[in-house]
Amino acid sequence: MSSDAMKKRAAEAALEYIEENTVIGVGTGSTVNYFIDALSRIKHRLDGAVSSSEATTQRLKAHGIPVFDLNAVGPLPLYVDGADEVNAQLQLIKGGGGALTREKIIAAASELFVCIADQAKRVEVLGTFPLPVEVIPMARSHVGRELVKHGGQPVLREHCVTDNGNLILDVYNLAILEPATLEARLNNIVGIVTVGLFAQRPADVLLLGTADGKGVKVFGRDRAAHGQYAKNSPEDR
Ligand code: 5RP
Repeated sequence: MSSDAMKKRAAEAALEYIEENTVIGVGTGSTVNYFIDALSRIKHRLDGAVSSSEATTQRLKAHGIPVFDLNAVGPLPLYVDGADEVNAQLQLIKGGGGALTREKIIAAASELFVCIADQAKRVEVLGTFPLPVEVIPMARSHVGRELVKHGGQPVLREHCVTDNGNLILDVYNLAILEPATLEARLNNIVGIVTVGLFAQRPADVLLLGTADGKGVKVFGRDRAAHGQYAKNSPEDR
């Protein structure tokens, strides 16, 4: 089975976390694109979405789904987004699509963060995928030197300007054994806008699309302890 088919399975399973007449947060990437396409089937039950990128905004609007400013509608009950890597604690590396800053803001402003991914994204230790870091352009060299002091090898992402007008450094060779500690340390480097580590605010639920007959594995928050999400939540399947 292709990774696209597994992404689609995870994306479709996330529909079951949506409550009637709510505004939800929507992430960015190829897995989320499957989610947006699926969302269009139930858009009459949704008030709209807060988008994490210009690309996602365009796709939502193309499906006739209203897009709202977070300031007008937050906090949100639900955020659905993909990931580049996810560990057993549901801590993530994100930003492969360059949308990490808005993604992190929406995750912070959401009650439930449902991560959708194909099985290849599940790792023991974060850091094989180079860690994306969004930087203010004039701080690029300074931040690069600081990242080297932390043991990483930063590489400027070519031909990439974020939706916020900034640059991305992809940091190689970090074995991230303590994700929340590293996130806090890197957050202290002047000139960094956002670190693509989502450890201090990890996902609450992981829907992992698999190649086997079960289709989607569910990890994370105990649904029985969170009644409003329990009634329509997917079982492991
Ligand atoms: C974008 C992201 C994406 O969620 C991440 O890159 C995964 O993308 P895909 O679903 O295409 O594999 O963080 O900034």
